[in-house]
Formats: sequence, structure tokens, C-alpha cells
Amino acid sequence: MKDRQLKDVLAARGQQHVLRWWDELDDAGKEKLSEQISRVDWSLLELVSHPERARGNIAPIDGLDMEEIAARREEFFAIGKEAMRAGKVAAVLLAGGQGTRLGSDAPKGTYNVGVTRPLFIFEQLIRNLTDAVSECGGSVPLYVMTSEANDEATRAFFAEHDYFGYPEKDVAFFRQEMAPAVGFDGKLLLSAKDSLALSPNGNGGWYSSFLRAGLGADAERRGVEWFNVFAVDNVLQRIADPVFVGATIASGRASGAKYVRKAYPEERVGVLCLEDGLPSVIEYYELSEEMANLRDGAGRLVYADGVILNYLFCAKTLREIVDARLPVHVARKKVPYLNEEGVLVTPERENGCKFETLILDMVRCAGSCLPFEVERSREFAPIKNRTGTDSVDTARELLEKNGVTL
Ligand code: UTP
Repeated sequence: MKDRQLKDVLAARGQQHVLRWWDELDDAGKEKLSEQISRVDWSLLELVSHPERARGNIAPIDGLDMEEIAARREEFFAIGKEAMRAGKVAAVLLAGGQGTRLGSDAPKGTYNVGVTRPLFIFEQLIRNLTDAVSECGGSVPLYVMTSEANDEATRAFFAEHDYFGYPEKDVAFFRQEMAPAVGFDGKLLLSAKDSLALSPNGNGGWYSSFLRAGLGADAERRGVEWFNVFAVDNVLQRIADPVFVGATIASGRASGAKYVRKAYPEERVGVLCLEDGLPSVIEYYELSEEMANLRDGAGRLVYADGVILNYLFCAKTLREIVDARLPVHVARKKVPYLNEEGVLVTPERENGCKFETLILDMVRCAGSCLPFEVERSREFAPIKNRTGTDSVDTARELLEKNGVTL
């Protein structure tokens, strides 16, 4: 953008402050900042002062619990194995997050959870995936979503470790988009004199970023019909699990979601439900106390299907809903920013907002979903923090319980 044009665009939105150091910048700096500004989605910034959308009518959703799955295990396994052998299943690793709670700048997957030997998160995930591929045959492409901040480091790490034994031809990377952060007053924050404070725009945009990277054609050429999308931080994650794949196919639904039963009513996990007749994930803070405590005739909690960020999506449905706009969530976060003196400040308290779309909202767009229960101690060991709840410590304990030597 030309200088004049840039100034007009910013003035129209009351954002001229981002050019405070413009005259000090060299050509490369000007080019960088101007390019970032040209990519800002201004409609996002208006969301800061708007409340999140109101929820519709919530009702329980029917799915499969562990007992029902055990009873039909062979049937589901046969269907899933057939799909795997035919190359109809792809794995999508969401690794574009910043992992701020873990407190390391490196990609989260490069974190070493080993004790007596190195065992990287990526390595453990590849092992889990390899288990399923070896059991079923066929090949499962692994698509890894990164962000601008960690793309290079992630690719280099995989290459350096020979893809942890996974066939290199079956691994591809794609980058998600970045979104600007703003202060509570809606003003754009800078992270440097020549850069807006940008952060990954949430995991909800994975499919459009995947298509933008040209990988849609790769998946179609391979005959992929199902995408198993999962988080980087759950080291016990079963990936391309044939029983889950088979059950979802058999259900005729367009998506599937693994869940663990909530341990107690107040547990802070999103739960699966029907919202105005469509599958939906409702956050713990959106659930009334009455709903959180509601029990069925057998005394079991009604809203207790806690999602673990392991979903299956039908490829055909994804193609149909690609243009659907997901709701944008405004998250209050600590955003490092350049103060008026041009000094980078790392705030101790939340000082701004980030804009994110979330994969859990894709379940609603998909139109139908099969909740599929898994055993927490065997499939859920998320690493969000260094210590305490959902931490490196708890994940190590769970890995060992599952026979992994650390
Ligand atoms: P989290 O919600 O735990 O976010 O991501 P995070 O950024 O990794 O961690 P914190 O909150 O900063 O500590 C859940 C999953 O979604 C991915 C993450 O990599 C993780 O696998 N994710 C999250 C993305 O791929 N992109 C994003 O923009 C956000």
C-alpha cells in the first residue's frame, strides 16, 4: 500500500498510532508493517465490544458410551480397518497454537517429556499413529498445521528426526493465518516498531488454511474421505483409531467426537449437546448450575460428554461447509506490546484481546455428530501447563501407567 493510502485506511478506523515510528523504519520495515495492515480483517476489531452470541435451546445428544462400543467393537473395527486400508483416512495435527501456558517459545510438539531418554511430544504422537497404521495396513497422510511463528522450527524438527520413522511422503505441513491483537479499547497493539502484535487465529480455520496450501488436491488424489483432527498436546491421543472411524461411518453422521465422561459437575471441559437440534459443544461456563448437575434416571450426569479435541470430519461435508463463517471468539489474554516509549512490555495481567475461531464450532456446521466415549486414563493426557493440572507431570504419570518408558 502507498503511504497515503495506508494513512487513510488507518485514519478511517482511528488506528493511526501504529505508524508512530513509521519515519524511523527502513524500506523492509515499512513493507512488512504495511503488508500486515493490508491483511487486517477490520470486522474482527468491532467484536471487542460485543458479547458472545447467546446460546439456543440445549438438549442432550445421543452417542456411544464405552459399554456400547465394547459390545460392537468387532463390527466397528472391521469397518474402520477397511477404510484405513483403502486410504480413506487422513490425520490432521493441530500444532499452530502458541502453548503460552507451557512457557516455551519452541513449538509445543518439540517438548521433551522423557526422563531417562528423550521422548518428544511429536515423537509420541507419531508412535500412536503408527500403531494404528501397523494394525490396519494402508497409509494415513499426516497433515501438520503450523503457524507463521513456528512453521520453520516445526518442519526442521521433523526433518532432523527423520519424521520419527513415519514415511516422509505421507507428511505435509500447512500454515494457519495470523490475527491482530488489540487492547481493551480496540486499538491495534504493536509487538515491534515494524510489526503488529499478531497471533495464530485459532484452530477453527484449519480446513480453509489446508485448502489454501493446496492440500485439498493431495487428499482427493489419495481418496481421503475422513479427516481425524487432533490436538498436539494430548500424548495419549489415539489417532486414526479404527474403532472410532468404523463407529462414525456406521452411524451415518458427518462427524464424530471423542469424549471422556466428566469426573464431576464443575469440571472445566466443553460438553457435547444439541443446540436448537444441532450438535454443539458448550463451554463449562455457559452451562447453568442446574444443567451441570442434571442427572438421568440411572443417576448419571446428563451433560457430561467432555470433548478432548479429537474429531472426525467427513471430507464431503467439509467441502460443503467450507464457506460457512465460524463464530469468532474474543479471548482476553496477556499480549506483549510496545509502549509509547517504544519499549516492549510483557504484561502480568490480561491487557488485550485475541480473535480466534474454534474447531469445536465446526461440529455444529457439520450438522450431525457421533459422541464416542473413551477411557480417560488410556486416552487423555493433555499437556497445557508445566506443573499441576494437565501438565507435564500428570502426562508423564499417565504415559507410564500406559506402559511407555520415559
Ligand atoms: P490450546 O487451546 O491449548 O491453545 O490449543 P495453545 O495456543 O496451544 O496453548 P495456550 O492456550 O497458549 O497455552 C489446542 C490445540 O489447538 C492448536 C494447539 O496447537 C493445540 O493442538 N491450536 C490452537 C492451533 O493449531 N492454532 C491456534 O491458533 C490455536
